[in-house]
Amino acid sequence: MRYGYFDNERREYVIDRVDLPTSWTNYLGVEDMAAVINHTAGGYCFYRTPEYHRISRFRGNSVPMDRPGFYVYLRDRADGDYWSASWQPVGKPLTRATYKARHGLSYSVYECDYRGIYSEQRMTIPRGENVLIWDVKVTNNTAGPRQLSIFSYLEFSFHHIMIDNQNFQMSLYCAGSSYEDGIIEEDLFYEQEGYQYFASDFTPDGFDTLRSDFLGTYHTETDPDSVVTGKCKGTTELGGNHCGTLMKDFTLQPGETARFVYFLGEGRRAEGARIRAKYADRGRLEDAYRDLAEYWDRKLSKLVIDTPDAGMNTMINIWNLYQSEINVMFSRFASFIEVGGRVGLGYRDTAQDAMTIPHSNPDKCRQRIIELLKGLTTTGYGLHLFQPEWFEEQTGVKPFKSPTVIPEADKSTVIHGLKDACSDDALWLIPSIVEYIKETGDLAFADLQLPYADTYMEGKDLTESVYDHMKRILDFSAEQVGQTGVCKGLRADWNDCLNLGGGESALVSCLHYWALTNFVELAVRLDRPEDVRRYGEIAAHVKEVINTVLWDGEWFLRGFTVSGRKIGCSADREGRVHLESNAWAILSGAAEEEKGRKALESMDRYLYTPYGLLLNTPAYTVPDDEIGFVTRVYPGLKENSSVFSHPNPWAQAAACRLGRGDLAMKFYLALCPYHQNDRIETRVSEPYSYCQFIAGKDHAKFGRAHHPFMTGSGGWSYFTATRYILGLKPGFDELTVDPCIPADWKEFRAQRSFRGATYDIHVTNPDGVMKGVKEIVVDAVPMERIPVFEAGTKHTVEVRMG
Ligand code: GLC
Repeated sequence: MRYGYFDNERREYVIDRVDLPTSWTNYLGVEDMAAVINHTAGGYCFYRTPEYHRISRFRGNSVPMDRPGFYVYLRDRADGDYWSASWQPVGKPLTRATYKARHGLSYSVYECDYRGIYSEQRMTIPRGENVLIWDVKVTNNTAGPRQLSIFSYLEFSFHHIMIDNQNFQMSLYCAGSSYEDGIIEEDLFYEQEGYQYFASDFTPDGFDTLRSDFLGTYHTETDPDSVVTGKCKGTTELGGNHCGTLMKDFTLQPGETARFVYFLGEGRRAEGARIRAKYADRGRLEDAYRDLAEYWDRKLSKLVIDTPDAGMNTMINIWNLYQSEINVMFSRFASFIEVGGRVGLGYRDTAQDAMTIPHSNPDKCRQRIIELLKGLTTTGYGLHLFQPEWFEEQTGVKPFKSPTVIPEADKSTVIHGLKDACSDDALWLIPSIVEYIKETGDLAFADLQLPYADTYMEGKDLTESVYDHMKRILDFSAEQVGQTGVCKGLRADWNDCLNLGGGESALVSCLHYWALTNFVELAVRLDRPEDVRRYGEIAAHVKEVINTVLWDGEWFLRGFTVSGRKIGCSADREGRVHLESNAWAILSGAAEEEKGRKALESMDRYLYTPYGLLLNTPAYTVPDDEIGFVTRVYPGLKENSSVFSHPNPWAQAAACRLGRGDLAMKFYLALCPYHQNDRIETRVSEPYSYCQFIAGKDHAKFGRAHHPFMTGSGGWSYFTATRYILGLKPGFDELTVDPCIPADWKEFRAQRSFRGATYDIHVTNPDGVMKGVKEIVVDAVPMERIPVFEAGTKHTVEVRMG
């Protein structure tokens, strides 16, 4: 069963059946102002932080589902009938009204056709302004004139998510509204500059600022009193819950279209007036839309592929890059699941996200990498979750102490100790730094001087190079090993629910190996032979440990508990085979050939499902606290034997490392959301976004996808598909094309921009191989490698596999 389709031409996903089983979301805003919004205009917006500066309120995980949002109501004055421009909140029967929702790149559009009135509500946050624009067009497609009214509705928030949800004896008296010059101003009394405005490009005939006025007692957004009666109350108040309702009566002649634009923005009434004046020139609106489209054009044009798989093309060319960009922007903490109670940077998540898109967003990746390096301790572990502002000099006027203002970091508590350190966190940063340097050619980045988190907080003036930060990370993992020589698991490794403490983690040793080889490659390029030798030796030792201590005969162990029990061995009844250790033993290059081959076969045999690979199997049913919280999670959900999406691309990349293009693609296709567009009765969630996990076979809802957008599988799927399957890898001094594809792929094309030059790549596979390059021809000249060309130039690359 399907609810929509991919419109690649317009780069939109079109939902033509809006009665979805769950919210399908989109992200607006690419700078400071942002919104998460669903297919029925439900959602919330915030300025910079969803925890401390929410502009509109949202009742997540509630009923009616995912309200409120940014609603537009239309009312027919002839008979009082009313409906909403998005299907919810009024929810007209779909037998009488036609609704569509179109999610595009940083905008969403709601279309409605009801009783001959067609409307379109477009939601966008333009670049350069902190305003959410609601652009509404209403057309009369009937033969006679229609007398209509339009109403808007949004609910203001008390800024801080906690204040929004508790201690109402305080919070209810902290916000006030006023109305003047057609603009509603919302004032957060607790804050010095806590103002929002809501304006329109027309002179309103009525307004409401009090939620209770607009909705009326015992009404909801479905049947708001002001819309039912056609009359706003026009009052303001200091204290209470506030809303933004601006209404207008209008008449449409047959065929006539009217346009109404609303502005929800950060700042005072004067700012609202400025924005209103700016966009009074409608051309400026069109400019803003074009600017945003060009912003995405520039990103998407960095790599455009054309392969035999339509799903891969659509995902890589549009949605997967979009998701990866959103993860780097929002660092996981704004969605309908993560509703804003946690913000900051999750060390490991951000480190991985930043690795995946240095070609389309080098500045943001660099910013994230630097923030993470500043969040590194001199001991060599990263702060698991932190706010980058803690390590920035604060300038400007200090806000007075208020419950809604971002609290200043408490110096005595922000540096957590080793017991709260995760063993993998900072290791992810090493390849991210190397990828960044390879993509940009910015070798000097390695020498950039940066502080450390702990010494910064202690007021010490210590800075070291990025390169030295990397060494501390690698040294930390070399020291933190358990009895068998495998890295300790500490509070958790990548798997949050595997809490091994002093027990040992195969994944982390493999990751250590990968990070070491990445670092050695950099050290070679920077000509630092002493480090090449030293870290090369450590790598050789780690490899030895992985192949001896961690090999179980058919696959690699997942680790050891603190008392020395094996995890993930053939004798285990539960959690016998794990994905992470096997994928990483191969992907890191540590696994010896034969062991790697067997481990890959075991992953395919034991972990593969039509929805992707299980994280582990069989599911745990017996709590075992030496292994961790994973044994207390329901079978088939989250880390306990679900198809946890994030490590799936690791298995795909592992298959590529062993030349198994058939398996890589089999794994890729299983997880690829595009290919589940017609199976929404099972998938439930959106097919244009990777989700955090898919319920595993031990769960009654096997195949149901959960938590869209904010997942490491976004970036990793992009990274694996482009670097490993299609094999397009930037190097320090070259671009490599070394695909690993199914044997029946005859050819594919890719246009890749690299250091400003454009490479038109055509790969042919006349012998039907899965891996191996026989010939490279650049601009009609056979070459050994593809060189870095001058920025602005264009080149053709013919690669013949065989
Ligand atoms: C979530 C967390 C991530 C963790 C993963 C597996 O996605 O954000 O940090 O690695 O779960 O536990």
